[in-house]
Amino acid sequence: MPAEPSNPLRVLVVTGDHSEPDPTKWDGGYSSDDLDLHKQMCAALESLDGYRFEVLSEHRRLLDRLQNEPPDLVLNFCDTGFRNVPSQELHVAALYEMFGVPYTGAAPASMVLCYDKAIVRLIAEAHGVPTPREVYVPADQPLSEVSATYPCLVKPAQGDGSVGINRTAVVGSDEEARAQLEWFRRELPGRAALLQEYLPGPEYGLALIGNPDGGLEAFPPLRVDFGELPEGLPHILAFETKTGPETPYGSVRIVEADLSDEDLVNMRARASLMFERLQCRDYARFDFRTGADGEIKLIEVNPNPAWSSAGKLALMAGFAQKTYSQMLEMILESARRRLNARSEGD
Ligand SMILES: Nc1ncnc2c1ncn2[C@@H]1O[C@H](COP(=O)(O)OP(=O)(O)O)[C@@H](O)[C@H]1O
Ligand SMILES: [Mg+2]
Repeated sequence: MPAEPSNPLRVLVVTGDHSEPDPTKWDGGYSSDDLDLHKQMCAALESLDGYRFEVLSEHRRLLDRLQNEPPDLVLNFCDTGFRNVPSQELHVAALYEMFGVPYTGAAPASMVLCYDKAIVRLIAEAHGVPTPREVYVPADQPLSEVSATYPCLVKPAQGDGSVGINRTAVVGSDEEARAQLEWFRRELPGRAALLQEYLPGPEYGLALIGNPDGGLEAFPPLRVDFGELPEGLPHILAFETKTGPETPYGSVRIVEADLSDEDLVNMRARASLMFERLQCRDYARFDFRTGADGEIKLIEVNPNPAWSSAGKLALMAGFAQKTYSQMLEMILESARRRLNARSEGD
């Protein structure tokens, strides 16, 4: 996949659909802040040599474009799902596969695996990666039967973006768990929940860029700083975190983590193992939190993490002294190295 200044690589950048509602956004759709971040991404891409970018944000045009005017490569920044339906994130990647268009990032299989947190946990456990205890609560389980060891966090078994996680998500008894599940079931009808061991210690994020056979690079990890939250509010990234400064959760900050060498080595090794096992590609972000026992446990794998300059991935790139443009270039180059290696092997 050569790219020369005279013959730039034609890249189609596919994002979430700006013209459709989006249930994972606080206002139910794209805000002016989201559109600003989108513009910043376009400008950062434009500064890269050897590429010609075109952005597609209207999903109703996608099929026709892939079929009739396929690009050399898709930069798959659609982290919202087809027409912003979160469970259809994999469908977008499946379209590229069906039309034979090379693309950056995870394949549908990886998205399926990672979307289900209970499955991620089982795989992690099988590989010796520490995880929180949990109880799976099917959508139709009578609430009177629900019981766990407390404190717990109530969250969707499948999902993303802190949807279904609010201020009262940390529960300390069967009674509180059942009351929270009543809210949860009204909010997300038909969805299974997890009652997960509440991990009260620091929360971390780790990003990996690259691929297992071509070298995986880790950015310095982040820590979520809940220090400015008023007393009484749980230290979690509740959905409210997204509403900005008008809620106390607007005070939550992302800072560079200060981990011991041993914790850092373990975190990177565990993330790399999960990257490979969950078939992540090119880049992925891993969320960890420390339990009451002091052990750092994996809570989530994001094979298609947020790409904006304000997102955790870009903040971690910053900790590695990389600009936002450089981070975007690293994603593109990882994909190109992977695709080239594959075509050489044919
Ligand atoms: N077991 C847990 N203990 C403490 N906090 C948790 C736990 N699981 C999730 N959280 C909090 O909820 C947030 C969102 O949960 P996560 O599992 O990462 O789902 P997603 O980001 O996909 O919505 C985390 O960033 C963390 O703050
Ligand atoms: Mg998360």
